[in-house]
Amino acid sequence: MAKEINTIGVLTSGGDASGMNAAIRAVVRKSIYNGKTVKGIYRGYSGLLNEEIRDLTARDVSDTISRGGTILGTARCAEMRTEEGQRQAAEVCRKHGIDGLVVIGGDGSFAGAQKLAALGINTIGVPGTIDLDIACTEYTIGFDTAINTAMEAIDKVRDTSTSHERCSIIEVMGRHAGYIALYCGIANGAEDILVVEKYDYDEQKLINNIIRNKKRGKKHHIIVNAEGIGHSTSMARRIQAATGIETRATILGHMQRGGSPTCKDRVYASMMGAYAADLLCEGKTNRVVGYSHGDFTDFDIDDALAMQKELPENMWQTARALSV
Ligand code: ADP
Ligand code: F6P
Repeated sequence: MAKEINTIGVLTSGGDASGMNAAIRAVVRKSIYNGKTVKGIYRGYSGLLNEEIRDLTARDVSDTISRGGTILGTARCAEMRTEEGQRQAAEVCRKHGIDGLVVIGGDGSFAGAQKLAALGINTIGVPGTIDLDIACTEYTIGFDTAINTAMEAIDKVRDTSTSHERCSIIEVMGRHAGYIALYCGIANGAEDILVVEKYDYDEQKLINNIIRNKKRGKKHHIIVNAEGIGHSTSMARRIQAATGIETRATILGHMQRGGSPTCKDRVYASMMGAYAADLLCEGKTNRVVGYSHGDFTDFDIDDALAMQKELPENMWQTARALSV
């Protein structure tokens, strides 16, 4: 028989992402709507181990849906990777009467949730990362805001790049994944997109392309470079030396993680947070919420963590074709 849940805990873990507050708000309000009490856990697993836990009412999440970051704070916690840390985290949940826990974060955070589920705490993961690198889902909280922020920033760099007839390398986030670079590459009409999944590290090819484009009359050459490849500043120096074209590097950095969430991030995060609360109320555990083929759904965490994801080939080929 499914375990009855009375108190639901919620935490955010790993890198923050715009829209996490909408998800927290939805977990709190849908749980209360379902007759449960809710506790907020501050600073991710680190705060769980340190018992930084407070009751959350529906009013505590008022005026949060439009705010970037996470009102609960977040952290990366090495101790949670150890068996001792995981046992202690489960103990803290029991001590505070938390029988169901929603973990908003990425794959690493889900691995922690998976360990807690094995120790008897019902857990549900909600995908929150700007990187879009969670295999089971086509949507992750914060990606839409991040690409819109990066897109606007790249538009601005492009203006000055055109005026000065320069080459600009713009580095975007994404840890090991090229989704932000691919989307911005298409949205900003980049001449080249460098992502770890595809780049052959043949810089001479890149240089030849820049020279060819200059001859074709292009007034700028925009390269969107994914963080996984990095080294934008030294790449700019080498390109300038080889082409004679002034080249500048811009690293967008953490600005991509902040700011008021887009409408899509607010709505999808709200849907996912409410879905997670419902799963716990139905007695489900070790699940992760996803978005697939146009609908919200859920997967077993073990299956979700075993899945692989690749950059959509069609988008990659289209980006190449449109950059001529
Ligand atoms: P993300 O959740 O965005 O992938 P991280 O990989 O940094 O971010 O993971 C966030 C946190 O999740 C880590 O700091 C750690 O506390 C916890 N975590 C990561 N991997 C594991 C693991 N294998 N087992 C238990 N907890 C983990
Ligand atoms: O996972 C989200 C992310 O922003 C990655 O794109 C980036 O590599 C990483 O987090 C940066 O982490 P930190 O905030 O610890 O510098």
